[in-house]
Amino acid sequence: MAIFLDSGNIEEIEKYLKLGIVRGVTTNPSILLRDGVTGGMAGIKARCIEIAKLISPYPLSVEVTTNDTKGMLKQAKELAGWADNIVIKVTVHGPKGELDNLAVIHELETKHDIRVNVTAMMSAQQCFLAAMAGGTYVSLFGGRVNNMGYNCVDEIGKLRLLLDNHDLDAQIIVGSTREVLNVLEWLVAGAHIITATPSLINGMIVHPYTKETVRQFLDDSKKL
Ligand code: E4P
Repeated sequence: MAIFLDSGNIEEIEKYLKLGIVRGVTTNPSILLRDGVTGGMAGIKARCIEIAKLISPYPLSVEVTTNDTKGMLKQAKELAGWADNIVIKVTVHGPKGELDNLAVIHELETKHDIRVNVTAMMSAQQCFLAAMAGGTYVSLFGGRVNNMGYNCVDEIGKLRLLLDNHDLDAQIIVGSTREVLNVLEWLVAGAHIITATPSLINGMIVHPYTKETVRQFLDDSKKL
């Protein structure tokens, strides 16, 4: 699995998919807004169906846009019906700490056979419980954790140990990437998947000294 693209931009997804290094895509309402989606649910649907088709069979995470319990269940079923490779993102709890979200996650996974990516989590303990509830993916927001003054590497290591020791199948996605070094550092720490922005993936590939070396090879080729 290893690397997902955190993007809702078709051109970017197409570009990095062609390189053979992307195994899935994650979105959220803020990413879709940033990447030009408008028109409410119809706009979200059109963009997500396009991405899902483009990356199939790799998974596309799409987030519900409500925190109402019945609304989340209804919308999750609707979103999951758009394509076979759509995974539903549900935040671990609501804006006021509402716990019903976990019940929704549990019901979607166990009663409706819908894959869930439990999102917006800032600690190993949240992710552990989300895995217990049945989440297929548990998303830790690494950059946001670090910005609060904690090191998410400690949370990732603890979480991986817990999942392995307790035979929980959830896959750890670490998102909220901020620096190029986050990707390998967090994978080494125990994440199954890092979802990274296209610019960070570009930063992993392109190196100034490689550019200079390639330039030298090309220049010398002409002199042969
Ligand atoms: C991924 O699943 C998350 O939605 C995303 O990485 C969050 O990133 P942010 O902290 O930059 O909003």
